[in-house]
Formats: sequence, C-alpha cells, structure tokens
Amino acid sequence: MKKSQFTTIKPTELNYEKYATEKYDDEIKKVIPGYKKIHQTIYQYTRKINKKTTSHVLDLGCGTGITSAVIRRALPTAYFDLIDFSRQMLSGAKRKLGKNRVRYYLGDLALFKPKIKYDITTTVIGLHHQNDRGKQKIFKMTYNNLNGGGIFIYSDLMTYQNLNTAAYNSARHISHLTKNSKSKKMLTEWAYHHLYLNKLTTVEQQISWLKKTGFKIIKRQDFFNTVLLICRK
Ligand SMILES: C[S@@+](CC[C@H](N)C(=O)[O-])C[C@H]1O[C@@H](n2cnc3c(N)ncnc32)[C@H](O)[C@@H]1O
Repeated sequence: MKKSQFTTIKPTELNYEKYATEKYDDEIKKVIPGYKKIHQTIYQYTRKINKKTTSHVLDLGCGTGITSAVIRRALPTAYFDLIDFSRQMLSGAKRKLGKNRVRYYLGDLALFKPKIKYDITTTVIGLHHQNDRGKQKIFKMTYNNLNGGGIFIYSDLMTYQNLNTAAYNSARHISHLTKNSKSKKMLTEWAYHHLYLNKLTTVEQQISWLKKTGFKIIKRQDFFNTVLLICRK
C-alpha cells in the first residue's frame, strides 16, 4: 500500500504488523499509558447512551477491535464499521467481533468515504501517524458524518504546547514503557515506534481544530502524553 499524502507510514513499517494479534492485544495495554482506564471511561460513557435507538459506530484505525468490543459490551445492538490499513490487524478484529452487525474496510482511514451517518465515531491510538493536514481532514470528515448530538471519542498520543510539560510527559511515557516491557526486544520495538514513527501534535492545537470544526469538548483525561477527548457534535 502506498503512503497517502496525509500519513507518515505504511503498514509494513509497523512492529505489530509482523506478529500475532494476541501479542499486540497484550502489549498495547502495557505500553500505552492509561490504555485500560481510557477504555473504562469509554465503556462508562457509552453505556449511558440511549439504547432505545440503535447506534451506528465507526472505528477508525480499529486495529484488533479492542475499542469496538468495549463499545459493543455497552451497546449490544449497535452496528459497527471498522477500518484499518493493516490486513493483519483487521484479521484480529474479525476474530474478536465476528460478522454479526460488523463491516470491515481495509484501507487508509484518511481516504475513507462514509456512506452513512454515525452516532459514535471513535479512534484510539489511531491518528498519530497522520500529519497535521490529515488530522484536520479526519476531524472534518468525522463531524460531517455524525448525526446531530453524536459523539467523537478520540484518544491518542499527543504532545503539549509548553515544552516543559511536553518533555515531562514524554519522559514519563518512556519510563512507563521501560517498566512494562517484558524484554529488551519489546522495549526496543515500542521505543523505536514512539521516538521515530509517531507524528505527535499538541493537545492544544488539536482541541482548537476540533472546536473550529464545530465540536464541543465534553470530557478530557490525560495520562502522561495519552489524551482522551470526548467531543459532541
Ligand atoms: C496502535 S494501533 C491502535 C489500534 C486500536 N485502535 C487499539 O486501540 O488497539 C494503530 C492502528 O491504526 C492503524 N492505522 C494507522 N494509520 C492508519 C491509516 N492511515 N489508515 C488506516 N489504519 C491506520 C494501524 O494499522 C493500527 O492497526
């Protein structure tokens, strides 16, 4: 797959493209600060959504479907569209979520053209390889394809405008990674990914783009440099 003008990497450059998705599921929870807590918040938040109407959910950069599985636990009758450009990761999502009420798309999320409107769009640790134009394009596409009152659950690695805060949180991330890696190989792979493949944008800049697009930020949680933003249309 070619790199798009919005993306800084190809799937083949990603460490987890090369190993079993069960290994990814285990490692992502260890390497991303706040990963479990973010999903607890997503569960608690989506559980409160009115279950009388059936929700349509879009998961951008779905990976092995961890976030969609959490939302499905909260909203068992929801329909899901999942997109990822890694065949390997999407195969893990297919095993986890099956075929009932779920559609899968293999492709670049920045180029995805939704055919329906969604009630929830989510992307968890999925946009940090987008350049700034890509992120803004995705925010607009998400807003335009949400129903009124719909929510955008956006969590990712971000940096901060204040360089002391940015340095502190980046150091805490590496320390978290060092503490939680089971081997030198695991630490090397994820540290390489974090230091040389990620394209982080400040949280302040992204909140400003989200607001300019029309979103209201209704919840924010920070875990070092992993941030969860729940936004409403
Ligand atoms: C760190 S994983 C996160 C996956 C999942 N959301 C989770 O929380 O476990 C990032 C995922 O985004 C996918 N991804 C990154 N850039 C993408 C792009 N431009 N188009 C589609 N998928 C992309 C990767 O293949 C990978 O599965």
